Amino acid sequence: MMKIAPSVLAADFSRLDEQMKALAKTSADRIHFDVMDGVFVPNLSMGPFILEFFKQMTDLPLEVHLMIVEPEKHLEAYVKAGATSLIVHQETCPHLHRTIQQIKDLGVPAGVALNPATPVSTLEDILADLDLVLIMTVNPGFGGQQFIQSMLPKIQILRELIDENGYECEIEVDGGINASTAALAQQAGVDVAVAGTAVFAHSEGIAQGVSALQGA
Ligand code: DX5
Ligand code: ZN
Repeated sequence: MMKIAPSVLAADFSRLDEQMKALAKTSADRIHFDVMDGVFVPNLSMGPFILEFFKQMTDLPLEVHLMIVEPEKHLEAYVKAGATSLIVHQETCPHLHRTIQQIKDLGVPAGVALNPATPVSTLEDILADLDLVLIMTVNPGFGGQQFIQSMLPKIQILRELIDENGYECEIEVDGGINASTAALAQQAGVDVAVAGTAVFAHSEGIAQGVSALQGA
């Protein structure tokens, strides 16, 4: 079954404690924490200070998606604040191999995200070192956008590359995931789906949001 990583970007921040307790009762695998800097992406969100509060509110793993320039300057701060894994963007890391090693030296799994226009081939030479590749199925910066269907063949290319080489690397998708796009992503070979709106804005609540995606 595909794992679900709810993105707290879509949470109701006036009821966070209650929402984290509701999430703990679901089969959600991990929390997805979106960090935006207003430079790499046209929006600002949360930093390590806020992550510390999530650490206090949940026992679920906290996966941190860094949509920021020069992420190498901030890796340690996020791990200290409670990140259990870190994802950097290929587009922000001219020395990606070094950045990945820095994440591993901090003792947490390392992932790389690819914008819709960035091909899988840019990761071929370091794929053996990665714990996760995050395929963006929207242009990063905002929740609630529409899933870009043409990312499905890209997921299949990555699936084949990982399987052919026997790499232990998860494939995750992020953006526009709902029950129908989750099913398409799973068919294409995805292991984990990030979902903000489909979980936190589900008409019947968070638990139904998670189970609707898993049943997809
Ligand atoms: C987009 C973020 C996503 C976003 C997903 O820049 O990386 O994690 O919160 O939101 P939905 O599921 O609403 O598309
Ligand atoms: Zn994200």
